[in-house]
Amino acid sequence: MEQEIINQKTSVALIVGVTGMVGVALAEALKKATALGGPWTVYGVSRRTLPPWFPSSLLDKYIMLDTLNKENTNKILSPLSTQITHVFWLALSFHESEEINVSFNSTMLSNVLNALTSTPNSKLCHVTLQTGTKQYMGPINDSALSSQLVPHDAPFKEEYPRLPFPNFYYALEDIVTSYQQSFTCSIHRASIIIGASSRSYFNTLLSLSIYALVCKREKYPFRYVGNKYSWEHFWDLSDATLLAEQQIWASVTNKAKNQAFNCTNGDVFTWKTLWKVLCNVFDVEFVPFDEKEKFDLVDFMKNKGDVWDAIVEENGLYKTKMEEVTCFGALAFTLKLKIQHVCSMNKSREFGFYGYANTLASIEPWVERLRQMKIIPK
Ligand SMILES: NC(=O)c1ccc[n+]([C@@H]2O[C@H](COP(=O)([O-])OP(=O)(O)OC[C@H]3O[C@@H](n4cnc5c(N)ncnc54)[C@H](OP(=O)(O)O)[C@@H]3O)[C@@H](O)[C@H]2O)c1
Repeated sequence: MEQEIINQKTSVALIVGVTGMVGVALAEALKKATALGGPWTVYGVSRRTLPPWFPSSLLDKYIMLDTLNKENTNKILSPLSTQITHVFWLALSFHESEEINVSFNSTMLSNVLNALTSTPNSKLCHVTLQTGTKQYMGPINDSALSSQLVPHDAPFKEEYPRLPFPNFYYALEDIVTSYQQSFTCSIHRASIIIGASSRSYFNTLLSLSIYALVCKREKYPFRYVGNKYSWEHFWDLSDATLLAEQQIWASVTNKAKNQAFNCTNGDVFTWKTLWKVLCNVFDVEFVPFDEKEKFDLVDFMKNKGDVWDAIVEENGLYKTKMEEVTCFGALAFTLKLKIQHVCSMNKSREFGFYGYANTLASIEPWVERLRQMKIIPK
């Protein structure tokens, strides 16, 4: 990795969105003895109390705060502005209208940055912002806009121009760069993220795990949820640990300041091969994709909440409601796009970050992690 590291006397991280997949991975990575820029003091923010699976020893302070609330954010974070050196922005407020996404997410980020820069002795020197490949595809989940979108060609490159549609990623980038007199920033663009949490709004692996477990229990075939195109064409994914490593690297490396980087595993796969891995991990029969058979995941899972409740109860799992921890609609929609979803990792490597993850080999360890956290059964 790039060695031009800034010597920080006291690094104090504020992870906003600490209970999401990347939030947990980031707290773990920052607390490693070998963490770049460390040793780190780590503060974490989210709205709800920490779930029992969250290792609270990773945090020096947990702050329960809704960053949409300007007054509370100011009251709670301003006194910490003389300590916090780095903000890692991983919070997400998701709505089907992109205009609402722009408004809510911008307000949350502005509230936090205003609170931390409001005092003359503010220590804030760097903000990392995690966004994603909708940078290159546009607001695909906005039903009024999605049919008008023309995505950029794959592999997606950081220098591609913005698309002419509202996009909360653009709004957040503009907010952090508007503070360039006060602190540096780095932008981290993820593909679909693979990690372990029950507090993530879009959790593909947990959604697929619950779908597989329900199929296994009820003896339904574990059918593919996307289309023939994604079954056969190349895709990429982003490992939560890799995202954490890239964000830490950029936050303490001079050359990476004020840059945007894609952050994907660095390899590609087809969903056909990944489906075989899932079948092995969950011990369900592999069913080849059949275009003639129409299958709607949302429709199929609509009445399966009781089955999940029974799995949770019988296995003494951490209590979750299927509707709250899965994202079947967004997942099926995304895997029915007719695009090769592949990012270029060249810029990141050229700037000195060489991290990677082996996508197909990473699935089983993440599923095992969900099992250890008692979010899914052993
Ligand atoms: N998930 C993916 O596969 C994926 C893929 C590509 C890009 N991205 C992008 O990555 C960014 C982060 O998303 P993510 O999926 O990593 O996040 P996530 O896993 O859904 O985690 C969101 C975190 O933010 C907290 N949070 C939500 N609203 C909050 C608020 N008002 N105040 C304080 N904390 C709040 C949540 O906890 P509480 O709910 O308890 O507050 C949680 O800890 C987003 O821009 C997203 O679009 C995600």
